[in-house]
Amino acid sequence: MIHSQKTSYFSGASNGQPDGKPEYQAALSRCMQRLREILPVAGLRNPKIGRDDNTWAWCDGPDWVMGFLSGELWLAYQLTGDTVFSNAAQARRGAFRQMLDNRKAQDHDLGFVFSLSCVAQWQLTGDQTARSMGIEAARALVSRFREDGQYIQAWNPVGPHDREQATFANGRMIADTIQNLALLHWAHRETGIADFREVADMHEATSLRHLVREDDTTFHTFCFDPATGAPLRGETHQGYADASCWARGQAWLIHGFANCYRVTGNPASLDAAVRLAGKFEDLLGDTAVPVWDFALPTDGTHPVDSSAAAVAAAGALMLCTLVPADQAPRWAALGYRILDGLLIDCDLTKVDGAQGFLAHGAGHVPAGRGDAMLPYGDYYFMEALMRAQGHTAFFW
Ligand code: GLY
Repeated sequence: MIHSQKTSYFSGASNGQPDGKPEYQAALSRCMQRLREILPVAGLRNPKIGRDDNTWAWCDGPDWVMGFLSGELWLAYQLTGDTVFSNAAQARRGAFRQMLDNRKAQDHDLGFVFSLSCVAQWQLTGDQTARSMGIEAARALVSRFREDGQYIQAWNPVGPHDREQATFANGRMIADTIQNLALLHWAHRETGIADFREVADMHEATSLRHLVREDDTTFHTFCFDPATGAPLRGETHQGYADASCWARGQAWLIHGFANCYRVTGNPASLDAAVRLAGKFEDLLGDTAVPVWDFALPTDGTHPVDSSAAAVAAAGALMLCTLVPADQAPRWAALGYRILDGLLIDCDLTKVDGAQGFLAHGAGHVPAGRGDAMLPYGDYYFMEALMRAQGHTAFFW
């Protein structure tokens, strides 16, 4: 069962929407060609982060990024029906099984990992083992929910021997987690079990209450009293400052709120996605690929983040299918503008020897990872290129 459904949303003059551009289809084809080229090199390995020579450093054990190549392969299979992609994706399943079997290897990013692997496989092939593994992952994600503060805890505390990590992780929610709610929405649709939907809704509401500021910028993380769940304060982890706006965090939330609205129809989710996308658009100024944190000047002295751009482009292009028709051109234009910027400044799909799609991803600048290929940048680039062609069927 191959999903290749496209809407006629981008079909041009009849509904006032801009047309998808042929250069996006060409870029998508180059992405798939790149996947074909790297499969023999990758074997069963999954990219972790780019090296300076644009080859991949590979995951060494369970990692939150290990599902992104799988997601690209399932998208390529969805587009082409070529089993070279589905076979390579299916062959990766052992690594996902290992993550399910090792509780310490799990965190809030189970959604990224399992939506783009097992859920994708179930949707495209009807494989029952993949479906069961997806539901198992959703159960593990729900178990992280903190009833008192109404949020899914992001990172794992370790034992009492590491007080510093426990203080850091306990009682903390982060913006990125909104992307993982899609796994819960899917599990609810599959099983009818109310917990999946209720936890997703409560975490989303808490994100809206505590991560989104009045001016429509966002905190990367928010801390609660670990003992009582009382809300304490917003803080950053990967951004420039507690009070600044980390570009990828804002992008995760745009895409995440838009997807929550697509699934639930809750008007508050759509309103949040629109407000955050509007702020992203404002903060971009005359750029298209943002500096990694919006507090920093765009004078070329700070790294940009192509992954934030790719996530935001996919989010804006999803948003334009959700808003009333007269508002859609604004979000299509934003998605196109960001994609154009990526194609001009970051596209590696024309560069011989590069193993990924996009240069200039800012993984974690304060930790010294500021300018590299990133597997999530690549996945969302492919998703955005597909959305720009009118595709609406994804694994979220
Ligand atoms: N979810 C981790 C990150 O965005 O870097």
